[in-house]
Amino acid sequence: MSRFVSAAFCALFMMSFSLTDVNAATGKAVYDANCAACHKDGIMGAPKTGNKPAWAPRIAQGMTVLVDKSIKGYQGKKGMMPAKGGNTKLSNADVKLAVEYIVSLSK
Ligand code: HEC
Repeated sequence: MSRFVSAAFCALFMMSFSLTDVNAATGKAVYDANCAACHKDGIMGAPKTGNKPAWAPRIAQGMTVLVDKSIKGYQGKKGMMPAKGGNTKLSNADVKLAVEYIVSLSK
């Protein structure tokens, strides 16, 4: 039994290394839970994830600006981006991962 347990731990340990991009997985999880409601289909004026022309001028502002505006929220010409997508429990790092995830799909 204990041999099985240590084998299981060993397998888990190895799996955590075989995930090539752990950050991307987390960014996707944050995005799916907190950002997709608006950004997946472009609801309420949100730039749709994967819509490259809509994202190009936004991405051009640079990651620092994008992350900062996502953390604090802002009123833009198209609509209102709520601070942290409305989930203030998210850490700034979580928001950054989600922004990186959106940008990776939209450029
Ligand atoms: C309630 C709807 C809603 C949710 C939820 C939401 N957004 Fe947004 N987001 C918007 C809207 C609307 C805009 C566009 C505002 C404008 O530019 O007029 C926007 C814009 C953005 C931008 C572009 C900022 C810029 O400077 O152009 C980023 C990045 C972004 N959102 C990230 C996120 C992230 C990350 C999440 C999840 C943590 C999220 N959004 C959740 C509505 C939402």
